[in-house]
Amino acid sequence: MTKNISVTLIVWRQANSSDKGKFETHQLTDISKDMSFLEMLDVLNEELTTKGADPVAFDHDCREGICGMCGTVVNGRAHGPNKGTTLCQLHMRTFNDGETIVVEPFRARPFTVLKDLAVDRSSLDEIIMAGGYISANTGGAADANAILVPQDAADEAFESAACIGCGACVAACPNASAMLFTAAKISHLALLPQGKPESAKRAASMVKKMDELGFGNCGNEAECEAECPKEISITNIARLNREFFKSKFLSDE
Ligand code: SF4
Ligand code: FES
Repeated sequence: MTKNISVTLIVWRQANSSDKGKFETHQLTDISKDMSFLEMLDVLNEELTTKGADPVAFDHDCREGICGMCGTVVNGRAHGPNKGTTLCQLHMRTFNDGETIVVEPFRARPFTVLKDLAVDRSSLDEIIMAGGYISANTGGAADANAILVPQDAADEAFESAACIGCGACVAACPNASAMLFTAAKISHLALLPQGKPESAKRAASMVKKMDELGFGNCGNEAECEAECPKEISITNIARLNREFFKSKFLSDE
């Protein structure tokens, strides 16, 4: 039987987007190492609500590393210290008995803190709405094998499509750039024959929207790749840049 642990949780509390916010300290005892980080936050919230206090707001949904809803900064790392792991899949066995854990929201100008650890990441949806789709009229559904896709292109597109839109790359970037997210979305379409014809135009309009929303530029720090729970490669950013430059040559403006 694994020994349960005690931790000191220093958690960011902020009533709403205009509140200044502050850290609050809580002691948690008898935490099972098999609990996920979010289950540990559930325990904290049970204790708070039992005492009549306001529970800590945090985003979550699938708790299986699929949906991209969860995400906070844990001890200075987006989604915590484990590589390729979403916050919902981070387990308390990662931490030592008696450890102090600091939990903060993802911080970036385009991500407004709604309450405590919950941030508004709808700016990422706006980038998708600016062009992250195929608009060609394809008529009726074609036979599955009517458009052949080389295996390596399919594999690479699939890896890019693994992005869950969590925003950890933005939170990890010193410039709060959304380049890795945008590049993943552009890549997975640009690599496939169905998405290729619009790839340059798509890159131009998604990058324009990203800039308008206040995301910073990529400084090649690669913090995004290091913190991405789906291990999206920064080579996607090179592809984004190629598509973006192509759009400058193709543009008739
Ligand atoms: S690229 Fe990675 S870190 Fe960024 S939104 Fe996608 S999954 Fe999250
Ligand atoms: S809650 Fe869905 S990815 Fe973490």
